[in-house]
Parts: sequence; structure tokens; C-alpha cells
Amino acid sequence: MITISYRNAKVNLAEQVYEPAEDSYLLADAALELVKDDMNVLEIGTGTGFVSAVLKANRNIGLVATEINPCAASCAKSNSIDVIRTDMFTGLKSNHQFDIIIFNPPYLPTSEDEKIPGWLNYAFDGGFDGRKDIRPFMEHVSAYLKPKGIVLLLVSSLTGIKEVRKEMELHGFNSQVIASKKCSFEKLVVIKGKVINST
Ligand SMILES: C[S@@+](CC[C@H](N)C(=O)[O-])C[C@H]1O[C@@H](n2cnc3c(N)ncnc32)[C@H](O)[C@@H]1O
Repeated sequence: MITISYRNAKVNLAEQVYEPAEDSYLLADAALELVKDDMNVLEIGTGTGFVSAVLKANRNIGLVATEINPCAASCAKSNSIDVIRTDMFTGLKSNHQFDIIIFNPPYLPTSEDEKIPGWLNYAFDGGFDGRKDIRPFMEHVSAYLKPKGIVLLLVSSLTGIKEVRKEMELHGFNSQVIASKKCSFEKLVVIKGKVINST
């Protein structure tokens, strides 16, 4: 079994599960800046559990994750993440509210012939514009956020950063790019969203 180490966390990888890459590291670092002890954190689409594991290894927090890919859900479990195998928020109790909700979604624009076979497709396939999962995420996320809670979303220049921020605004969120990294063919950014008027 292959295991990677980062910021006090050790994470097992597995077949058919997204291997942590530049996006995962950028999001983990940005989240670590904002997550404080005693917060309750939700990660959607945890994959191996990498981002959650980094947070848990460095902060004393409550953390729950969800994941649609059953191979990823069992990998995250093996990395001691409390993960629910479900589609986005579906398996969560509706009265469960969090200080921070984190999502590194499948964000690449993907045509029918670019889809890959098997569960790993869920890690990459952002639909025709890369925002297929961002739309339902932004539509439902407020119900799971504490009044002053924040959202951290990782996206790429290929997803359309301006369009993602517009989608956030449409659902009542202020947005701010808090981290970015230029990679070979794209720029990755972490966008922080806060409900407008939550001060
Ligand atoms: C880009 S990968 C990120 C994985 C991990 N969070 C990381 O940063 O390394 C996106 C993850 O979201 C999961 N996912 C995609 N759609 C989902 C959905 N509707 N509900 C829950 N998880 C989903 C995928 O299976 C995949 O593990």
C-alpha cells in the first residue's frame, strides 16, 4: 500500500481514488489557516481523506466528510476519517451545521468522450463547463452552515473563476480568492465564501 505524509498526516492511497495533487495541497494549506480548534468542519468529496486528515492532524476539531465513490469512502475510512458514503449533502442530518464546509469538486470541463471508466470519473468530470457539481453545492450549502460559517471551494481557471464567484453571489455569498497557484495549463484558486450580511 502506498502512503503519503504531509503536515503530520499520513494518508493511504487506493485504486480508483483521486491521488492528492496540487489542488489538494493548496486547499489543505488554505484550510489550515482558517480552521481553529473546536470548530466543526464538513468536507464534501473527501477522496482519500487527505485534506481532512491534514486538518485533523493539526487541529482539535469535529470533522465529518462525504464521498460518492465507495472505493474512496473506504480509503478515507482507513485514514480514520468519519465519512458518509453519499451524494453531496444527502446523507447528512439537516440540523447538522458547520463552521467551515470544504469542497475540491470535479472541476474540469468534460465532454462525453473525455469521461473515464469507473468510479474515478467522479473525481474529474465537471460536466460540459466544469461547474456541474458547483451549482448544486452552492444551492444547498447554506442549510448546513452556521450563520457566520464559511465555504472553501477549490477551482481552476478552466472552470471559470468569475463564473464560480457569480454562482456564489447568486446564492447570497461574498467571495474572495484567498490562495492561488499557477500550474502547467491552468491556475488553481481557493475561493472563500461567506454569507452576505453575516459580518
Ligand atoms: C478532485 S477530487 C478531490 C478529492 C480530495 N478532496 C482531494 O482534495 O484530494 C473530487 C472528489 O469528489 C468526489 N465527488 C464527486 N462528486 C461528488 C458528489 N456528488 N458527492 C460526494 N462526493 C463527490 C469524487 O469522488 C472525488 O473523490
